[in-house]
Parts: sequence; structure tokens; C-alpha cells
Amino acid sequence: MKSDVARAAEILKAGGLVAFPTETVYGLGADASNAKAMARLYAVKRRPADHPVIIHFDSAEKAFTWAREVPAAARKLAQRFWPGPLTLILKRSALAKDFVTGGQDTVGLRVPSHPVAQELLREFSKGIAAPSANRFGLVSPTTAAHVREDLGKDVDLVLEGGPSEVGIESTILDLSGAAPLLLRPVHISRNQLEEILGTPVREEVSDVPRHPGGLERHYAPRTPVRLVPAHALDREISELKERVAVLAFSRPDERVDYWLRMPREPQAYAQRLYAALRELDTAGCERILVEAPPESPEWAAVRDRLTRACGRA
Ligand code: TXA
Ligand code: MG
Repeated sequence: MKSDVARAAEILKAGGLVAFPTETVYGLGADASNAKAMARLYAVKRRPADHPVIIHFDSAEKAFTWAREVPAAARKLAQRFWPGPLTLILKRSALAKDFVTGGQDTVGLRVPSHPVAQELLREFSKGIAAPSANRFGLVSPTTAAHVREDLGKDVDLVLEGGPSEVGIESTILDLSGAAPLLLRPVHISRNQLEEILGTPVREEVSDVPRHPGGLERHYAPRTPVRLVPAHALDREISELKERVAVLAFSRPDERVDYWLRMPREPQAYAQRLYAALRELDTAGCERILVEAPPESPEWAAVRDRLTRACGRA
């Protein structure tokens, strides 16, 4: 009998869609060179055609063939962080067609570290385009079960790989311009990037996002979410008139219908965040209250994801 990974690679070669685990979130994969397969992927994702996708490879060497210029900074970062949760935006080569770049002159490249992703990429041997395996705008999946709930029969095969270890999306760094620009500051922080590059990294502050992760109310559950400062949580709860679900560091409060307690360590919190938001979303409450995490830099990624879940960028 063929292994699941071998079957998955065959499905990709035939133009099908395969969801697979990565260390960040599960991806919905298609052959990045196949226009028809990509059209189906965009339709299933319900993603606007001008929004680019990230292309995944098993090695930096292969990834860089999709770029027409590979600056020294890209090689340095690849050496340090690949395989791992970093996406680099570079000027595209002729291999990256409009149907994966959204018509932009750049391409997003990533080498994931999850062993199942690596095995699939080696078996398929070419680039796999993969956005997070959820419908556009909703919370990303961190387990195979999340993918099945979201996409059902729209995906030909879901590869099992356990809960994603990082739990939030890859950091995206744009190296296609004159200076490095951080588009999605997530697991790998600005400090870590600056340390390797030895130059300052700007963060994009713009009202017109070039990537959907920058849209308001992205990564959001269907139930409205509100961030509440730790000191105000008790007062908010005592004034409640609606059924709420709470995500907090502290112990459950009996006045609240549904309570999930989160770890006080940022990496562990990030790892559980999306599963927690999904759980609270199905708790039958009218609102989700989230105890705001600390303001310190270690919590920046989690704060960013939570702010977006609230619909304010
Ligand atoms: O962790 C991740 O990056 C996951 C896993 C599956 O690898 N993928 C992921 O893909 O989060 P997606 O499509 O949900 O988000 C990718 C982000 C989008 O905001 C997209 O616009 C941006 O990357 N992106 C891709 N190519 C780009 C480009 N050429 N220029 C600017 N942004 C780009
Ligand atoms: Mg996504």
C-alpha cells in the first residue's frame, strides 16, 4: 500500500489539493506551477485573485530558483531560520507566474521544518503553493481536524501531523526593496531578524495592506471578540448582560458561561491560541472576552494575532 505522503504527491501532480501540516499552521497545498490547480485553490479558499500565496520548498536552493535576485540578506536569514517559520519576499523569477503572485513582481518563499511537510516537499520535488487551510478571513487551522471542519470535501486529502508546534503563521520579511520591511511580525521577532542582518528592519504601517494578513478582522472567529485589560476583567464580568466566553490567564469565574485558561508563557500561548479561539467560537456565546496579554516584546506576536481577531488592526 502507498504511504499517505506518496498519495498526496500524486494528487498534487494530478492538479489536486492536499492539506498538510507545517510547524506554524496547516497549509492548503497545490502545485505552484499549475494554473488550473491554483484556480481551484483560490476558489476553495474564497480568496481574491490579486492576493499572493507563499510557495513552499524542501530546500533554500530550490526556493531561490523562484527569485531572480537573491540578496546576501536572504541567504543569511535562510541559513539561520530555514527550515523554519520565516517567509521571504523576493523579486520573482520566470518560474513564479501571475497566478501565484497575484500579479505582483515579487514572490513569497518558505522552507517549512515540519517533518511531514518536508517529506511531502521532497516527494513532490517542486514548489507547493499553500495558504493557511481555512476559508479566507477566518482563524487558521492548527490540527488536521480543524482543516476537515473548515474545508470538508473541498480538499482531496488531509495529511495528519499532530498539532502545529508554533501555532501562529510564519514571519514575513520583504527583501525585494531597498531596505528590509517586516510585513507580518509573528513567531520570529524583529529583534531576531535585526540581529542576523545587522541592519534595522522597518515594520509596515500602512492603511492599504498589500497582504490579506494586514486586513482588518482577519484571523477572526465569527463571534465578536473584545480585548480587555487585566485590571478591568473583573468589572466587565460583573456588568455582563450577555452570554460570554472568556480567554484568560486567571482562574475561571463562576459568573461566566465558558472559560478557557491560557498559559503565561508566550510561545505556549501562541501554540494554543487558534484552537482556543475556535473552541470559544462554538461555545454558543454572544461575545468573546480576552484578557489582554502583557505589553512586553515577547508578547508582540500574540498581541498582533489577538488584535486582528478583534477586527481592529
Ligand atoms: O505560516 C505560514 O506562512 C502558513 C503556512 C501554511 O506556511 N501560510 C500562510 O499563508 O499563512 P497565507 O496565504 O494564509 O498568508 C500568506 C501571507 C499573505 O498575507 C500574503 O498576502 C503574503 O503572505 N504574501 C505572499 N506573497 C507575497 C508577496 N509577494 N508580497 C507580499 N505579501 C505576500
Ligand atoms: Mg491565512
